[in-house]
Amino acid sequence: MANLTGKKILLGITGSIAAYKAAFLVRLLIKSGAEVQALMTKAGAEFISPLTLSTLTKRPVHTDIIAGESWNNHVEMGLWADAMVVAPLTASSLAKMAQGISDNIITATYLSARCPVFFAPAMDLDMWCHPATRENVRRLQSYGNLLIPVGHGELASGLVGEGRMAEPEEIVAHLHHFWEKQQSLAGRKVLITAGPTYEPIDPVRFVGNRSSGKMGVALADAAARRGAEVTLVLGPSRLSPRDARVQVLPVQTAEEMLQAAEKAYPGADIGILAAAVADYRPREAAARKIKKTGDVLKLELIKNPDIAATLGQRKKTGQLLVGFALETDNELANAQSKLEKKNFDLIVLNSLQDQGAGFNYDTNKITIIGKGNKIRDFELKSKPAVAEDILDEVEVLLKNKPE
Ligand code: CTP
Repeated sequence: MANLTGKKILLGITGSIAAYKAAFLVRLLIKSGAEVQALMTKAGAEFISPLTLSTLTKRPVHTDIIAGESWNNHVEMGLWADAMVVAPLTASSLAKMAQGISDNIITATYLSARCPVFFAPAMDLDMWCHPATRENVRRLQSYGNLLIPVGHGELASGLVGEGRMAEPEEIVAHLHHFWEKQQSLAGRKVLITAGPTYEPIDPVRFVGNRSSGKMGVALADAAARRGAEVTLVLGPSRLSPRDARVQVLPVQTAEEMLQAAEKAYPGADIGILAAAVADYRPREAAARKIKKTGDVLKLELIKNPDIAATLGQRKKTGQLLVGFALETDNELANAQSKLEKKNFDLIVLNSLQDQGAGFNYDTNKITIIGKGNKIRDFELKSKPAVAEDILDEVEVLLKNKPE
């Protein structure tokens, strides 16, 4: 198991009865080699004494942005940390984080933190199940924050169900796992295509599609976080990766995307083709704006190159190729046939029939299909969480692939 030696961890404790477990959590973190700076909301400090935590962390505990004459610099703390863990996280603090309300030391630091943020909710069954809470959890996940799932069991109210904060051992295991995974793609080169392509009709109009590029950008960030050298060939998209290590090659058309991908693929270990490439383009793009003359305008479209099939044909031993399929009908059969035809090792299927999946959503619900009819269904998740699932599957294949 990786250890946490030298890791600087901000621990935010909000006002839940589970706050008493924070003392055990701090002890485990420190035992694993981490440095811990505890932050508490006033309600958190009602449940467990700041003195207990400052004794265990050997640092003053901050409970307010302004303390006496001095100002606790939440920006500095946000930059200091290698990770922020909010445990326990109440429904109310969760809502504030989701909305960006910075009225206490924890939420203010959260907004300033550039490091990964983990959150371990703790609340009663009905609060946890409420659509408002579900939405807030999804929001934090869509910001790339990492949920440490709640447990099932007896709650302080006497109800039995979901809502218990994960045990301190589980929280520490999540951190261990996170840093272990960080280097899991070190030394690997990953090519990702993402976003739509725009095929010009004239200088002002194009044929395109509704792809936002969210899934591909999330994949690029996730692969970079795992230590890979990432090239992202990105069609016209408002988005860009957060991770500065990702090399972005912006393109407009399918042909430009093919050229960039063809260049990068020979040196890549993994190709992930998440772009929604326009299948057809106007035969000719008019040099000047087409004027409104007749009642009917006929556009002749010709087939674009198939980037995936081209790379699939050139795939060498040791290289992996992952494709996507967005389907409305006969989903599994269509995806399986694309896996074969384009020589993919894995195909990620999302069906437009699934609520919350597909273009422009922050969430996605996928099925991953491998060779030999290996099928794995996943739940509806944020796109960053889906990206992690896809990379986990890729890593399993990499381990079993001949060099
Ligand atoms: N793809 C590609 N180049 C194209 C078309 C598709 O690289 N010209 C890739 C996509 O990035 C995706 C996979 O191929 O990974 C499947 O894309 P999809 O649009 O579902 O398949 P098509 O082959 O275009 O089939 P159809 O549109 O008829 O479903």
